[in-house]
Amino acid sequence: MRVNISPMKISEGQLFETYLDSSVRIICPPELIPSPGQYTLAHARGSDSPLAVPVFFSDSAPNGFRSAPLLDSPWNPGAQLNLRGPLGRGFSIPIFARKVALIAFDESPARLRGLISIALKLDAEVVLVSDSALDDIPEAVEVQPIQAMLDIYQWADYAAFDVARENLNQLREKFGRMNQAKGPREAAVLSQSKGQILVRAPMPCGALAECGICALTIRHDWKMICKDGPVFEMKELQ
Ligand code: FES
Repeated sequence: MRVNISPMKISEGQLFETYLDSSVRIICPPELIPSPGQYTLAHARGSDSPLAVPVFFSDSAPNGFRSAPLLDSPWNPGAQLNLRGPLGRGFSIPIFARKVALIAFDESPARLRGLISIALKLDAEVVLVSDSALDDIPEAVEVQPIQAMLDIYQWADYAAFDVARENLNQLREKFGRMNQAKGPREAAVLSQSKGQILVRAPMPCGALAECGICALTIRHDWKMICKDGPVFEMKELQ
């Protein structure tokens, strides 16, 4: 299933409520709601902060959506938000996927949560791999610790990762070490590029000012996570 890049919109929204995990529910027009992996830039009206905050989709919610946890969110319920989005490339689960792994390598799996319902609609088995808890997960979803990541990756026919830019090398090393330890057949399975990776980094301008803060080097080439990602094909990052 291909998630296309939607035409960007600018509009107003409202922070309706906050949750214990620092995620928020935002009320906004439907065309502002990002797909899983995409983001919308939000700036509170009247705020002193010059920087907008990238808000990722986590779950559907009435009249808007629930975000992934926000770090250092300065907003309180009722805050009026200027929204620009949806921005960037999101995840796309292939329609043939029957074994889907959702792997939050270093943080909350909330940015991957939106893929659960898509995968279940495809009748796929879903395994969530994370050391962080996620509330309200359907019973059909199996949860495994990050220690099981490589085994689950071997099992899956599609994997979606969530990783911080600074931890990408650590992820690559894990795959590299595993390849060395396994036999040639399993190493071949591990080297297959059968997934996508959401790379997290600060994205203050969302490509508007080309600030370069979200830059990522891929094979001696510069990519901007805010517009070339945040979701990349695994084969691009290997
Ligand atoms: S956030 Fe400014 S170029 Fe990406």
